[in-house]
Amino acid sequence: MTQNPLAPGWLLHPDDANELPSTVWSRNAARTASGELSVAGVAVSELAARFGTPLYVVDEADARGRAVEARESFDREFARVGSGAKVYYAGKAFLSTEIARWVTEAGLYIDVCSGGELAVALAAGVDPGRLGFHGNNKSLAEIDRAVASGLGVIVIDSLIEIERVADAAARHSRVQPVRLRLNSGVHAHTHEYLATAREDQKFGITIADAPAAVAAIRSHPQLSFLGLHSHIGSQIFESDGFVEAAKRLLTLQAELLTGGPIPELNLGGGFGIAYTSGETAMALPEVAARFADIVSSECARLGIPVPVVAVEPGRAVIGPSTFTLYEAGTIKDVDVTTGESSAVRKYVSVDGGMSDNVRPALYSADYSVRIANRTSDADPALVRIAGKHCESGDIVVHADYLPGDVAAGDLLAVPATGAYCWSMASNYNYLGRPAVVAVADGAARVIVRGETEADLLSRDVGVPAARATGHDKSSAAGVSARSTTDREAS
Ligand code: LLP
Repeated sequence: MTQNPLAPGWLLHPDDANELPSTVWSRNAARTASGELSVAGVAVSELAARFGTPLYVVDEADARGRAVEARESFDREFARVGSGAKVYYAGKAFLSTEIARWVTEAGLYIDVCSGGELAVALAAGVDPGRLGFHGNNKSLAEIDRAVASGLGVIVIDSLIEIERVADAAARHSRVQPVRLRLNSGVHAHTHEYLATAREDQKFGITIADAPAAVAAIRSHPQLSFLGLHSHIGSQIFESDGFVEAAKRLLTLQAELLTGGPIPELNLGGGFGIAYTSGETAMALPEVAARFADIVSSECARLGIPVPVVAVEPGRAVIGPSTFTLYEAGTIKDVDVTTGESSAVRKYVSVDGGMSDNVRPALYSADYSVRIANRTSDADPALVRIAGKHCESGDIVVHADYLPGDVAAGDLLAVPATGAYCWSMASNYNYLGRPAVVAVADGAARVIVRGETEADLLSRDVGVPAARATGHDKSSAAGVSARSTTDREAS
């Protein structure tokens, strides 16, 4: 069989369109003897029957394992160069109380970037001392709550925040540890919206402004200066951007050390993961080794001690752990003529879309897909997985090959949806956000229930309370208006 001319260059015609490449699928995803996709011993047909579709399915041991691997790798590599490391899980990728517990049990810290994320971490019982607080426009109330809660560190993002955090610390009689976020000016190789350290963007302050800002921080007895921070962007595959940022920050660090100690250096997150067969991610142990090498050699060159290095991976910890399970609905073979040639693209529409995964629409992100309820020997066909929303850009998977007999009612699974899918989900077209189910050791359980129609109506004050079952106190507190049997989770 030949390549469909509509396929992108990286997408090769597969020998087997049922295969689950380990680079993209979670560690406990496998085909059962009958060909069905299963995760940690639970078949997708059972998950769909119990919880409905769409459904986010998290391989719990995979997520926990990557968190442990991140911590162990950075601990080991920075111990090798005579220092230490702190790994923060970037909660913006995917945060619930359960996930917060998994990562803290793995020894990670957590970074939050809003009052809402902070509330989730605190509700999970995470020690506030293990939380960092980010954000380019933290409100006074958020700063106050962070300081009052005893947060481990607040990352100052602009000059005005120095005074704001110092005031809050004085009010609460605390000495608040802070970092200073810098815009290193490094251009990371990623989508424009995911790059955060070019000059022309909103985060951090420039390296030129840093000495005065650090002096201001040091002048406040209520603030303790933990160190500099840089995050150059997200979904980055090449280490050269991190290397350059580390060099620039350490050069500045050497200069600032004359004014006082700087125990830590935070190099942010952004480590890329594979979403398709066309991508290969750097393994976390390799990333850690590279970071330790560059930081220690730069420190040696500058004649300064190696600081404790903090990193903040989100996607690399949670992204590969999860797949989204959909049911296929309508299918259309669309003839597409390009120049002289014409080819067929099979449009398969599913029961979710840009409301549960906005990344393809927002960043042109690529994903891959498999038929999940069965395998098939049918010749592979080039497919595009579309959602059910009312716009043509509502795409879940731009291009992949599926067995050509894919049919309405098949379950489809899209891997690597753990990061920035649930956390960026919306209610567009009044679709309820899907449930999140964690699967481990042959058992599945809901960790975040799905939204019901009552939830969708619950904030519309024009709906008479009697009819909107969700418009009562229990619903406002986040308690389901429906019973808690499994199927209700969807
Ligand atoms: N630290 C800071 C300060 C960040 O802003 C971020 C991500 C991270 C760490 C974690 O980055 P990660 O390791 O997960 O790449 N919505 C986009 C990604 C936005 C990332 C925002 N900041 C996406 O779906 O690709």
